[in-house]
Amino acid sequence: MINKLFNFKNKVILITGSSGLIGTAISKLFLSLNARVYGMDISKNKLRNRNFVFINNDITDDVKTEKEKIKIGNLNATRDFLYVEDLCSAYEEILKSERLFGQVANVGIDSEISIKKLILHISKILKKKLIPIVEKQRVRPKKSEVARLKCNNKKLLKITNWKPKYKLDDGLKIFIKWKKKDKDIKNYKPENYNI
Ligand SMILES: NC(=O)c1ccc[n+]([C@@H]2O[C@H](COP(=O)([O-])OP(=O)(O)OC[C@H]3O[C@@H](n4cnc5c(N)ncnc54)[C@H](O)[C@@H]3O)[C@@H](O)[C@H]2O)c1
Repeated sequence: MINKLFNFKNKVILITGSSGLIGTAISKLFLSLNARVYGMDISKNKLRNRNFVFINNDITDDVKTEKEKIKIGNLNATRDFLYVEDLCSAYEEILKSERLFGQVANVGIDSEISIKKLILHISKILKKKLIPIVEKQRVRPKKSEVARLKCNNKKLLKITNWKPKYKLDDGLKIFIKWKKKDKDIKNYKPENYNI
């Protein structure tokens, strides 16, 4: 009867606590009514259905999330970030390479990310909502700003065996962990902006 009265085809239903008793029952009900169901829960879900997507998440995360304003310059500039160990290993490969002797070789990942997106990555790692506040004095003058920096590393990859080992988030996590331990952090004055 219910199948005839309601049809949820092309509808998306979000169910929180979807691994629990009521959550499972209600997920099954909506699936039987042709809905696409997104279930969210901190506990694993046994429900298997091609129209069921499970999101392993704590729904209170957003409420608990700490917020912090950060002062920033140009949010749209993009940069190609390379973890320092990968940079060092690239230099080692270049030094070993006879073909690169006296040659210019670019070192980088060959991908770019905007500062705005980078902040989102850092937010996720810190589990803290970072709210960027653009400050005029931190925005570089148009003529000195480089809007995009993306490395063309084809030559390096072709001539040497170098490959970066760290993905952006891996490098950020290591850097954040190291910076948290760093005793010098007390000397760091983020309120002073120096060009
Ligand atoms: N079962 C009943 O007869 C009944 C009656 C009245 C009210 N309720 C209420 O309805 C709700 C669901 O009942 P139930 O029987 O399905 O409970 P349940 O304990 O079987 O399921 C609750 C689910 O919520 C998940 N959960 C808990 N905290 C979470 C969080 N922060 N983020 C994401 N998921 C989280 C748990 O992992 C669990 O899978 C409860 O609040 C319950 O008190 C239940």
